[in-house]
Amino acid sequence: MTEAVSSYWVDLAYLVTGVLFILGLRYLSSPATARLGNRVAAAGMLVGLLATLIGTGIVSWWIIVAGMVLGTAIGLFSALRVKMTAMPQMVALFNGAGGGAAALVSTAEFLSQYRAGISYDQGIAIALSAIIGCLSFSGSIIAFLKLQELMTGRPITYPGQQVVNAFVLLVILGAAVAIIARQGVLPPMAGYAVQSSALAFVGMLAFALILGVLFVLPIGGADMPVVISLLNSFTGLAVALTGIALGNNVLIISGALVGASGTLLTILMGKAMNRSLTNVLFGAFGAVKTSAAAGAGGPQNVRSATLDDVATMLAYAGQVVVVPGYGMAVAQAQHSVKKLADELEKRGVAVKYAIHPVAGRMPGHMNVLLAEANVPYPALYDMEDINPEFPQTDVALVIGANDVTNPAARNVESSPIYGMPILDVDRANNVVVLKRSMRSGFAGIDNPLYELPNCVMLFGDAKSSVDGLVTAVKGA
Ligand code: TAP
Repeated sequence: MTEAVSSYWVDLAYLVTGVLFILGLRYLSSPATARLGNRVAAAGMLVGLLATLIGTGIVSWWIIVAGMVLGTAIGLFSALRVKMTAMPQMVALFNGAGGGAAALVSTAEFLSQYRAGISYDQGIAIALSAIIGCLSFSGSIIAFLKLQELMTGRPITYPGQQVVNAFVLLVILGAAVAIIARQGVLPPMAGYAVQSSALAFVGMLAFALILGVLFVLPIGGADMPVVISLLNSFTGLAVALTGIALGNNVLIISGALVGASGTLLTILMGKAMNRSLTNVLFGAFGAVKTSAAAGAGGPQNVRSATLDDVATMLAYAGQVVVVPGYGMAVAQAQHSVKKLADELEKRGVAVKYAIHPVAGRMPGHMNVLLAEANVPYPALYDMEDINPEFPQTDVALVIGANDVTNPAARNVESSPIYGMPILDVDRANNVVVLKRSMRSGFAGIDNPLYELPNCVMLFGDAKSSVDGLVTAVKGA
């Protein structure tokens, strides 16, 4: 193949990759087509990878095969072994790898070219991509350690934190400007100039790594998914900039797609939790108080019900709204929940599912679990659509959800979750809460719902409780 023909095929393959990525994202936006979306995007990735590695002949076949085998093994292992509840930290880790890769490629590009001088525009792209990639890498590692509970998940704060962060950022930007300016004005370098430029670049990257750590340390609690999504958009940006530095279209397209979708997801999650991005980044969520909502010693006046009480309530209801949360994921109760719904529907009870956008531990967590149990998509209702229905609902069946049902978010100004939109289960005629104890949820605060007169607790592991309910409803 001549060089022109080979570049024609590579560009065509990149176009196919871009189209497959866009289609994949399109399909991923609905639970019904999400699996297909994943496959389409993975096919796009394969086409892009092969075109780059074969078409541009960067490395030997052996390295290509070894890289693919290693990558596939890690991907397969993670997909099969990592639990659904550990997905956020896996996403953080993969995201960090993406940012790190972008930083490494940009650094390699700088080191291979700076002796001969690099143009301003290429220099800007290289420096920004290396900085943002490093920041995303180290920030994602800290996010992983926090979520995996290898370090405290609480925000780590100290006086003057933001001044320190601003100072580190200034050092990085100063170094970047100096390196780029020097590249643009100086003729090809030699001797001392070469060394100092390379050293300055490496120093700049070290500070970017430090900034990534400092940036994520003060963030904790329920803000972690928002910050992971933000780091995801950083990685996208770093990859797109690497694409500009290398003149590689597929990196520009895929980086822009990741950057844009990560930004959108960040905005949507912030909205779902009623938190602005500045508040997430600088508000140190969960650092302080257990707040007025938490009270001393937690809710005292709760009533606990038996399986038979709850089964009777459910069996004679007109409408039951199931409210799943993180506990359903831990207990893997989704299949039992579906069985219970089938049993109730046989008796003429209308069963709907209320999905809070941040229920569980990752976006779409409940949708994925319920889809796995073959719950029909039309039975799933978004928060805005189901909330007006609670006053006409006989039983709100809360399965391992806590924060997303906490009325303190509506009316206790001192609560850390004040202002977060919630599922209005307290407005249903009866509320049944399935959980194991009076322990709090992710935000670490008490839930005044449990003391309301229309609320009863069914204590126990969610799966055993729901299985018990299936049997009891059959006999009711
Ligand atoms: P949480 O508020 O975390 O409450 C889950 C409840 O499930 C706990 O109170 C726990 O009580 C119970 N539970 C745990 N294991 C159980 C089991 N085996 N059987 C029965 N119950 C069990 O969950 P949520 O209401 O879904 O809210 C999600 C929270 O996580 C929000 O604060 C959200 O901001 C945050 N968050 C969300 C995401 C995303 S993007 N979805 C990511 C990270 C964090 P017991 O221990 O007493 O059983």
